[in-house]
Amino acid sequence: MIKPTDKSSSPINFQDQLFDIRATEVTEDQNKAYDQMLKHFPVVKNKDANSYMFFKHRDVKRILENDRIFSAQASKHLFVPHGLDEPDHSKYRRAIGKAFTNEKMLPLLAKYEQIAVELLKEAKNTPSVFDAARFAFYFTARVELALLNWDLSLDKILIDWTLNNLRATLHDDKKQNIANANEWNHLIYTQLNARRAQNAQAINQTSDLTDDLLNIQIDGKPMPDAEISSLIRNLNMGLVSSMACNITNCIHFLATHPDIQQQIRNELSLLDEALDEITRLHGSLVQSKRVATEDVEFNGIHIKKGQFVHVNWCSANRDGDVFDNPDQFQWGRDHSEHLMYGYGTHECMGIQLARIQLKIAMYELFKQTDSFTLSSLHTPEKLVFPANGYRALIIELK
Ligand code: HEM
Repeated sequence: MIKPTDKSSSPINFQDQLFDIRATEVTEDQNKAYDQMLKHFPVVKNKDANSYMFFKHRDVKRILENDRIFSAQASKHLFVPHGLDEPDHSKYRRAIGKAFTNEKMLPLLAKYEQIAVELLKEAKNTPSVFDAARFAFYFTARVELALLNWDLSLDKILIDWTLNNLRATLHDDKKQNIANANEWNHLIYTQLNARRAQNAQAINQTSDLTDDLLNIQIDGKPMPDAEISSLIRNLNMGLVSSMACNITNCIHFLATHPDIQQQIRNELSLLDEALDEITRLHGSLVQSKRVATEDVEFNGIHIKKGQFVHVNWCSANRDGDVFDNPDQFQWGRDHSEHLMYGYGTHECMGIQLARIQLKIAMYELFKQTDSFTLSSLHTPEKLVFPANGYRALIIELK
């Protein structure tokens, strides 16, 4: 439980510090900025003066462990399952989980490999301008479409929507956020209706994720389309937005650390561990939000009912109290305290799929090349808050 003031922690003075996560000095190097906050101001009041940001691993865990006090219902918009509290949250997760069993996911992996191979084949025709960010976004969008068993030609629409949505969040553009939500619902409702029409006509249909989502029963009733749309939007955050950034971070890291790239090439079984460690070092999802359901004193801070708290995943995973030499890549780390896929009740539903998706993209890149390095002719372009990755990353393949 959250105790009254934690006397063991040093007093934090954030009185004059209003933190702006969108400020240029933060977004120009997010890791550096969050590392500095972690060191000097492990908790700050945000620019809106009505919410707090927690940077320390210990605080992030304690907030997430106390999901009755720090509720996930932090938005007025529908967000399934992420924005639900108990007991509804477990009810939805159990029902949704049935669509994500190993039995259903494993047969799709060959398709994902094929998607990666085809994208890399295209790239090999023009090796000097291989944009690893383009590869990451097309790979992840096509994986999502393959998972839903929708037409892969929707890839560009999905990518444009995802980038547009990230941009609107970065600029806190509420009008654009609403337009994006409407556009998303329109896209999803069109697909769901098309599927219903196909199912009404077809005989001997093989069932896929879309059918499973249409058939999910909550309290004996199918999920309304608005909830299915919200769920697919939640999946898209992981499958495309976070995953594409994660892939670009891994490619950038390995392109700039040829020694580690070579170690993996010499022994491919090291790939999993390397990807976990790069994911820890370079988080692709910056933060999550909760809302206090009652007045609470936390580490000496009075948080009022209705105030928001943000947990910063990137800094928590680079906290020196938990990870030795936190900003260094190290083989042999214990990753059990790694929070990049969340923690507690709302821990990522797609961890296994995420790890496999990342591994397939990177494994195929290794298999199809002898080495990759950053292009000396191009400067990588960062993709910043609420994400952390690259939107342009030109590498040279050999
Ligand atoms: C690099 C890839 C990914 C990262 C970094 C990531 C990270 C996270 C994190 C940190 C959370 C917890 C959020 C919170 O507590 O507020 C989360 C939740 C979630 N993730 Fe992922 N994720 C990734 C990939 C995926 C994939 C591939 C899927 C789906 C197949 C997915 C589906 C979800 C869902 C549905 C939730 C909400 C779970 C709940 O509220 O119970 N994620 N993810």
